[in-house]
Amino acid sequence: MPVFYDEQTKTFFLEGKNLSYVFGINAAGFPEHYYFGSRIGRDDLRYALGVGGNSAEACVPGMTDSGRNSYNNYGAEISSYGSGDYHECSLQILFPNGCRLNEFRYHSHRILEKKPGIPGMPSLQGGTTLLLTVKDKNSEVYVDLYYTVYEDIAVLCRHMEVHNRTGKTISLLRAYSFTLELPRNDYDVLTLEGAWADERTPQRIPMHHGVVSIDSKTGSSSARLNPFMAVLDRNTDEYNGNAIGLNLVYSGSYVLKAEVGSKGSARIMGGINDFDFQWQLCDGETFATPEVVMVYSDCGLNAMSRTFHDAYRRYLINPRFVMKHRPVVINNWEATYFNFDNERLMGIIDVVKGSGIDTFVLDDGWFGARAADNAGLGDWIVNTEKLKGGLHTVIEYCHQSGMKFGLWFEPEMVNPDSNLYRAHPDWAIHMPGMEPALSRNQMVLDITRTEVRDYIVESVSKILRENDIDYVKWDFNRVLTENYSIALPPERQQEFHHRYALGLYDLCERLVNGFPSVFFEGCAGGGARFDPAMLHYFPQIWTSDDTDAYMRTRIQYGTSYCYPLSSMSCHTSICPNHQTGRTTPFTTRADIAHLGATGYELDTTKMTKEEVAEVADQIRAYHEMEDLILDGELFRLEDPHVSNYFAVAVVSRDKTEAHITAFRTLCYPNDEVKRIYPRGLCEETRYFIRELGITLSGATIMKMGLLLPNTTTDFKTFVFHLKKEDSVH
Ligand code: DGJ
Repeated sequence: MPVFYDEQTKTFFLEGKNLSYVFGINAAGFPEHYYFGSRIGRDDLRYALGVGGNSAEACVPGMTDSGRNSYNNYGAEISSYGSGDYHECSLQILFPNGCRLNEFRYHSHRILEKKPGIPGMPSLQGGTTLLLTVKDKNSEVYVDLYYTVYEDIAVLCRHMEVHNRTGKTISLLRAYSFTLELPRNDYDVLTLEGAWADERTPQRIPMHHGVVSIDSKTGSSSARLNPFMAVLDRNTDEYNGNAIGLNLVYSGSYVLKAEVGSKGSARIMGGINDFDFQWQLCDGETFATPEVVMVYSDCGLNAMSRTFHDAYRRYLINPRFVMKHRPVVINNWEATYFNFDNERLMGIIDVVKGSGIDTFVLDDGWFGARAADNAGLGDWIVNTEKLKGGLHTVIEYCHQSGMKFGLWFEPEMVNPDSNLYRAHPDWAIHMPGMEPALSRNQMVLDITRTEVRDYIVESVSKILRENDIDYVKWDFNRVLTENYSIALPPERQQEFHHRYALGLYDLCERLVNGFPSVFFEGCAGGGARFDPAMLHYFPQIWTSDDTDAYMRTRIQYGTSYCYPLSSMSCHTSICPNHQTGRTTPFTTRADIAHLGATGYELDTTKMTKEEVAEVADQIRAYHEMEDLILDGELFRLEDPHVSNYFAVAVVSRDKTEAHITAFRTLCYPNDEVKRIYPRGLCEETRYFIRELGITLSGATIMKMGLLLPNTTTDFKTFVFHLKKEDSVH
C-alpha cells in the first residue's frame, strides 16, 4: 500500500517509486513534516526532531512546556499565520471581524484509490491519494490537503481545497498549493528564466537567509520564469546528488518561494500568486488550488527530468495523442507572414508535396480584415479577399496533395479594429476611464465572463464544424494588463487573475474535448505559456519564436528540465534566421528541429533544389527516430549555455536503440579533441553505430566516448544512430 498510517505514532508514510514522504500529527494536533527523500523504513521518526539551541519562541496556544512547543519550530504541512510561525505561510484568511489568524489541526483522513480531479483545473491522473482534512481551531474553516504517490514514478502531487462552513463570507488573502519543509539551509535553487525568443535558460543560485522567490504577474505562466523550481544539494549535477523538482500545473500568475529561516531548515511553497489576489469565499463554498508536481531524484537533475517526462506522458498529456506520431508540418508564418493568397499557399505546398511533410498549417492572417497585426483578431470569419473561394479551396488542395490541414487561432484576443470590438467594446479587458495598454495592437478578451467564452467557443467551433480541419494552433500573443472585469463587483476584482486561468481551462475543455479528433498545438508568442496545465490540453507547444538552430539548442535544452521532447514543437526555418540574422547549415537546422515534434516553417519556393531533395531524407530520418522522441529517455550530455557544445542522447526504454545529436557552436583552429560521453546505454549490449560503421559495447561507447571530428564549419551537428547488433539487418 503506497499510503500507510501508523496509528500508534500518528505517522503517515507516502511511498512512491524510490521515495518516502513522511509526516505525523504532533502533540498539538498539527500535521508536522518529518521527511522527504529516497525510500526509508516505516520507523518512528520523532527521535530526530529538534529545535536547534535555546529558543525564544511563542508557545502553541495551550502548551507551556519548554522545547518543541512553538509553531515556528515545526516543519509545516500547512503553514498558518498568527500563533508564532514567522515563516511564509501557505494560507491566509481574512474573517469578517478583521481577524487574519488561523491554526490548522488534524481533523480526519481518508485514502483514495482513485485520484479525484481538481474542480475547474487540469491535474495528473492515477496514483493513490491521501486526503488529510485539517480544521481551523477557531473557526469552521476546513482544509483538505491532497497527496498522491505513484508506484511507477518518483512523484508526489499536492494541492489543497479550502471549505468555508463559517456561515459567513471569508476572504482568502493567500491560498498556495503546498508547503514543503526541508531539513537544511544550504541548498541551491535552479529556475528557468527567459524572455520572448529566449525562453527557459537554467539559472542556479544558492538559497540564502530570507526568501528566494520567482513569480509571474502577467496572467500567464510566462516566458520570463517558468513555474518550475528545483532545490538541489550544492554538489548536485546532472548525474549525481539530490534534486527535488517542483512544477505547478498552472497557466496563470503564480509564485514559488524558497525560504531559509533561523532554524537551519528551508521551507518551499507556492501556487497562485497572492500579489493582487483576494478571493471571496461564501459560506458553503470550496476554493481549490492548482496542483504541484514534486519529483525526487537522488541521482541528479537528469533523472529528475526523466521522471517529469514520464509523469507527464503517463498521467497528464491527452492519451489520445501522447504516443501517436505527430504531424510533420509545413507552416506558412515565416514564409509569408500576413501576405498570402491561394496561389502563394499552393505554391508552398507544391514544392514539398510527396516529401513526407504530411500537414499544411495556415498561420495568422486568414480571417476578418487581417492584413497586418493591427486588425481582425476576434473575427473568426474567412477573409475571402485573400482566400478566394474560401478556406475549403486550400483544404481541398492540401488533401489532393496528400496533406492534412491545420489552422491558426488566437481565441483569447481582439483588435480594437475588428467587428467584434466594434460590437462589444466592453468584452475586452479594460479599466473604465483608463487608456488600455495595447500590445501588438491587440487587447485580451475578458474570458472570466461566460458570454465572452460562449462567443469564442461558438465562433471557433463554427469554423471547425464547417471545414475539414485536423490541427489547430492556439496562440496567445500578449500579457494581461488593466486587470479588471466590468462583470465583477469591487470586492471580487482581485479574483481576476485566477478567474482568467479558470476561463482559459473552460475554453480548452469545451474546444479540445468538443473536437476530439482535432490535434491542438499550444503557442504563446512562442513559448510564453509552456506549462503542465497547457500540456494537458496541447500535447505539443510551440517552444519559441526563435527558430535559429543555435538558440534552439539552448531553449530546447532548458525546456527539457521538465518537459518531454515530444511536447516541444520545433521547426526548420530559412536563413539568415528571422530572429537572429544568423546563418546555420540546413542539415543542422533539421537535426535540432528533429529533437522534438518536427516541422518546417519557410518559403519552400525559395529553397534550393538540393534543399528540397534533402527534406525527404530528413523526414525519413525523423520517422526512424520518432518513437524515441515520443517515448525514449533523454540524457543531456553537453550544456550549450556553458559550453561550445550541445549534446543529448535519446535511448529506447529497452536500451536496444539510441539517437545521439551533438552540435559544435563555433569551430576554432587547433581546436581541442572533443569527445562526448553518451549515457543510458546497456554496458553489455553491442551497438552498431551507423555513421561510423562499427560495432562497440555500450560500456566502450559510454566510457571511451564518441569523437566529434574537427571541421571548418560553425554550427555543425554530428548525429549517431545506435542499434543493438542482433537487431541490425
Ligand atoms: C506568434 C507565434 O509564436 C508565431 O508562430 C505565429 O503564429 C505568430 N504569433 C502569428 O501571429
